[in-house]
Formats: sequence, structure tokens, C-alpha cells
Amino acid sequence: MNEHARPLTLSERADEIEEKMMHELAERVATKSVLFGMADGKIEMLNGAEFKKKNPDKYFLMGADPRLPKMPDKPTLIDFFKNRFASLNHLLQSATLALKNGHNEKIVLACLLHDIGVASFIRCDHGYWGAQMIEPYVDEEISWAVRMHQALRFFPDSSVGYEYPQMYINNFGADYKPEPYIVRDYERAKNHKWYMSARLICVNDIYSFDPNAKVNLDDFVDIIGRNFKQPEEGLGFDNTPSSHMWRTLMWPTRYL
Ligand SMILES: [Fe+2]
Ligand SMILES: [Fe+2]
Repeated sequence: MNEHARPLTLSERADEIEEKMMHELAERVATKSVLFGMADGKIEMLNGAEFKKKNPDKYFLMGADPRLPKMPDKPTLIDFFKNRFASLNHLLQSATLALKNGHNEKIVLACLLHDIGVASFIRCDHGYWGAQMIEPYVDEEISWAVRMHQALRFFPDSSVGYEYPQMYINNFGADYKPEPYIVRDYERAKNHKWYMSARLICVNDIYSFDPNAKVNLDDFVDIIGRNFKQPEEGLGFDNTPSSHMWRTLMWPTRYL
């Protein structure tokens, strides 16, 4: 029977294109992790054994995905900025504003890195993920601030003129209430010696994208050089608690 006897639904069509792409990706097959499918509302994974039965001559990708920009053998933070982060503007604008406001380099770097979780990896709990990624390489104050901006952004602080963002009302609805773990982290952060560092990320967080602002990663290369301990072996190959996260960003479609 012709499997296309009825018109394909949009999602079936997408599956078909993806299947075709998988087959055309040179001789190696890129696989999607379960998490990627969940974003489409599906909990499923490729059955490797079944796939091999149908395609005995194919091998799974176990390294770089040729569809993505090539990464050097010893990648630096800048290489990730250029080749793996989907959007730099928000990060650069926040860091530029922090610089203009006269903050120290720790705060500027915290602003530059505060949303790398979103820009490269995952939205949910992005502050916690981002902090974990950078923790081995920056001053503890910087990763602490990146982690805590996740909670602080939902709570105003009139002492520095920070209000609950109108954008959150537009995006999440006026009745959105942060979950209890976020409230707890906010309460904890309030009395912490680095509270203001995390708060300054929120203050310098540009919530509305300004297409006219001139921002450039080159302006921050020196600050990164002085404040981010770039491992000699390259990010991902230096055996820290977050090396695997950088490797996953480098090779997101490896079979294992
Ligand atoms: Fe954020
Ligand atoms: Fe942000």
C-alpha cells in the first residue's frame, strides 16, 4: 500500500524531511536526543538496533555534526560565542550597558555570560545551567550571580530602580507566579554578600532588543582574557565538572 495514500500531516512531513536528512548526512547518521523531541511534545528515541537492521551499511555520528560550524581542536569561550551561541546581541548589549554604567569587570563578565544557558543550551532554568557551565572558569562571585539572576529577575528592588519587567507580564501573563524554588532562592539571595552582583545582572539586562545599539564581541575579548580561565586543553577537554556540557554543545548529535 502506498504510505502516502492520505496527505501527510505537518508533523509527519517534518519527520519525513528529518529522516531524509539523516540519510543524506554523508555516511554518518546524526541522532536526536530525547530532549530535542520533547520540545515537539514527543517522548521517543531512535531504536538503534532496528535502525541498523534496516540500514546495515550506515554508522551513527560519533563526533562533529557536519551541518554545524566547525569547532577548533582546542575551543575557547570565544569559539563557542562565534560558533554555537544562537544570539549574541542580548548578551553584548547587557555587557555594554554594564560597562557604560561603570561596573567592575566581574559584573561586566557576569552580564556578558548571564544568558549563555538560553543562547546555547536550554531555556528552562537557564541561570542554573549557565552558572554550572562557567563555574570552573570564573570567580565564584560571577557564577553565583549568573545562577541567582534566574530568581532575582522576578522580584523588584526599588533601591536600584528595578521593577518587575513588563515583558514578563506580556510573555507569561499578569497572573504568573514564580515557583516556590525560585521564591526560596530569591529569599536566600537577598541576604547574601553577593546579592547586589546578581541584582546588577537584572539591572543591566536589556529586556527590549535595541536594533540600533552598536555592540561587538571584540570589545570584551580583553575582559574575557583577564577573567575567564581558558583551559589550555580547550573547553570540553579539561576534565572539570562542566567539561561534558561544553562537549555536548560541540557535538549535540553524537549517538553516545
Ligand atoms: Fe536570564
Ligand atoms: Fe537576559
